[in-house]
Amino acid sequence: MAPAHAGLMKNKLIASLTVVLALGATSALAATAGENWDTHCAKCHGPDGKAQTKLGTKLKLKDYSNPASLAKFTDADLAKATAQGVKDNGKEKMKGFSDKLSPDEITALVKQIRGFAVPAK
Ligand code: HEC
Repeated sequence: MAPAHAGLMKNKLIASLTVVLALGATSALAATAGENWDTHCAKCHGPDGKAQTKLGTKLKLKDYSNPASLAKFTDADLAKATAQGVKDNGKEKMKGFSDKLSPDEITALVKQIRGFAVPAK
């Protein structure tokens, strides 16, 4: 029964390798807020939140470095907009990111957005 036993060992090895790879992938996915911002948001909202990009200008996005721009939004509003997207009269202005980002990552992005309005010390 040597071949069958060898097969079992091989399966075990593959199983543990899969676990290791899966763990590696999970930690790679848990990107920092800054990384997520650059990957998913910066092309419209700008790397600095000022929305001075081609798309940001076209879409007339708010300048997040100006504290007044988000004054009427609560953190929950910002998280909801990020997760579910923004609609205007049923027309999608921004798609939601709940399929790409975890709730924790979205919370971190809200902090990132608020941070754009904090003057650098
Ligand atoms: C394709 C361009 C685009 C991308 C990419 C994008 N947004 Fe937006 N975002 C918009 C538009 C358009 C609005 C609606 C602005 C308005 O109603 O004035 C918006 C609105 C928002 C709002 C609501 C507050 C506001 O400015 O009106 C938040 C919060 C927000 N975006 C966060 C994010 C985050 C976080 C990401 C990345 C995970 C992201 N956005 C990616 C285009 C984009």
